Amino acid sequence: MFNAINSTFLNRFLAYFNNKFIPTLARTLTNTSSFIAYLEPIIQLFKKDWKSNHLSAKVTCVRKESESIYTLVLKPSSNWKPFRAGQFVQLSAEKNGSLITRTFSISSEPSYFKASGKIELTIRSQENGIFTPWLRSNLHPESTVYLSQANGGFTLRQNTTRKLFIAAGSGITAIRPLLKEYKNEPWFKQSKLLFYVKNRSERLFAQDLNMLESYGLDYKYIYSEESGRICQQHLDNFCQDISKREVYLCGPTKMIETTNNLLKENLIPEANIHFEYFGATPINIQDSPLDIEEEEFIQVDYLNSNKQVSFKPEASPQTLLDMAEKEGLNPIAGCRIGICHQCICKKKQGRVYNTKTKQYSDSGSEEIQLCLSVPVGHVELEL
Ligand code: FES
Repeated sequence: MFNAINSTFLNRFLAYFNNKFIPTLARTLTNTSSFIAYLEPIIQLFKKDWKSNHLSAKVTCVRKESESIYTLVLKPSSNWKPFRAGQFVQLSAEKNGSLITRTFSISSEPSYFKASGKIELTIRSQENGIFTPWLRSNLHPESTVYLSQANGGFTLRQNTTRKLFIAAGSGITAIRPLLKEYKNEPWFKQSKLLFYVKNRSERLFAQDLNMLESYGLDYKYIYSEESGRICQQHLDNFCQDISKREVYLCGPTKMIETTNNLLKENLIPEANIHFEYFGATPINIQDSPLDIEEEEFIQVDYLNSNKQVSFKPEASPQTLLDMAEKEGLNPIAGCRIGICHQCICKKKQGRVYNTKTKQYSDSGSEEIQLCLSVPVGHVELEL
């Protein structure tokens, strides 16, 4: 008994030491997140592509898919772990001396990685984007980028029920691996894919879908410029047994919300609807606790930058990261979905709503993730 208590105490102490004490000490002494990060320039003298807390990957090919979409074929270093079809990674690359990170679905299937050691990321070059057009024109075979391990829960749930996949635009990149990985499963012969693209020139992965048709996939492109966005009529025309299917959806926020509502009206149980937002997740602030006062204006003070912004609370909620960027500030950020922890910032005071945990903070000083935090009262940030 004494030993059990002792070992629990020791485990807790070690966890605290590793997770809190060492990073705090490193930040205090070296102004970096870890001691190894401090030594990075020295290690790079011997190993050029090495970066603390990052796994490197070599670009083997940059393939054009359409005018605005390209695929990066990457060979991750040997310590990058296998992934599940439908997951995503954070990709970082050094642009003009700063490391920029974005999250992308892995558009290839795990069996391709097993056979070749490679993965693919299919990326839309965002008009006026600062990173995706740059990646396209600056990466070439042998360039080095950095990857996180794969993450995400948009993976196959039931390996029996027949399925309906619905993708819009680049949302197909998360669905393609599911289709290719499971094409030999018995349920695949009855699977259906409804794929919304703007017009014929945007028919991504047409060859793959053709190949998958021979395994039993029934698929249809819908050109939104001609036929509009998803509606009951499209579903009725394409899938008569929709209520018996498990549905996987991936696309922009608006499409996911509309489709989700349609599927519920079609009596598909929530447990059979799986979706991945391709773009910003909508912010739905739950009822605020009673002790949060209704304020006419909410003010955010950026203490280190000597700036402040105020807005009406009924305006559509935004995260502190989006707000800071709109103010011309340049906070460090990566995934923008709460995974990489790069956007951690000290809140001196004020209450925020965490869009992931759906919890309200208290008003005291603490570290928060800017990409998940929405101000619900006067907030002061060390930014
Ligand atoms: S930007 Fe990655 S956690 Fe906020």
